[in-house]
Amino acid sequence: MAKLTLGILVSGRGSNMRALVKACRGARFPARVAIVISNDPDAAGLKFAAKAGIPTAVVDHKAFADRDSFERALHKTLKDAGVELVCLAGFMRLLNTGFVNRWRDRLVNVHPSLLPAFKGLHTHERVLEAGVRFTGCTVHFVRPEMDDGPIIIQAAIRVLPDDTPARMAARVLKYEHRIYPEAVRLIAKGQARVAGNVVRVKEGKKAAAGIINPPVES
Ligand code: GAR
Repeated sequence: MAKLTLGILVSGRGSNMRALVKACRGARFPARVAIVISNDPDAAGLKFAAKAGIPTAVVDHKAFADRDSFERALHKTLKDAGVELVCLAGFMRLLNTGFVNRWRDRLVNVHPSLLPAFKGLHTHERVLEAGVRFTGCTVHFVRPEMDDGPIIIQAAIRVLPDDTPARMAARVLKYEHRIYPEAVRLIAKGQARVAGNVVRVKEGKKAAAGIINPPVES
């Protein structure tokens, strides 16, 4: 089986990267990780990847005069590693239109909300302030606007009465780790195709149609 070649971009602890690495260890998983790249030489995720025997690279934005030259270096590092799909995994640099368009429909991101709601930072604080009953996470193809683009897969979780941003973040993160590998699997298998602003997905499994929060008694 020809496997899809991934390049993963991280800026921090890299738990989503670890989930992707773990999935790729499966013999039947249709993707492999060619390289993990960070803009921050001290990112914990880099150390994990190096220990796991995955090639790593640092493209430090601080070493470049402007965003264009930083992104040209990023692009070259990905190309040299033979990357076919770029996975942003807690990569905290905004990417310019030039880079995003070069990787159009081959660049995905995970975000800890049910997009298009709650784009940007401090997601969980804003979810709690808004009083919504569900939150969750999204994996989507990247477009030039921040946290924008065709949605591949989402997981919804209940917002609980005693939630704090930290508790909610931890619960959402577990689902990020489940849906990110699933999104990659769907793309690699050709089961998630972009059609305009949406992604058409071939579904295999039957799922419940909906849940209510707070739960309804009868
Ligand atoms: C994740 O929760 C991810 O969804 C979020 O950063 C965290 C990175 O954690 N990304 C964004 O907010 C993108 N807008 P990780 O380094 O442990 O994967």
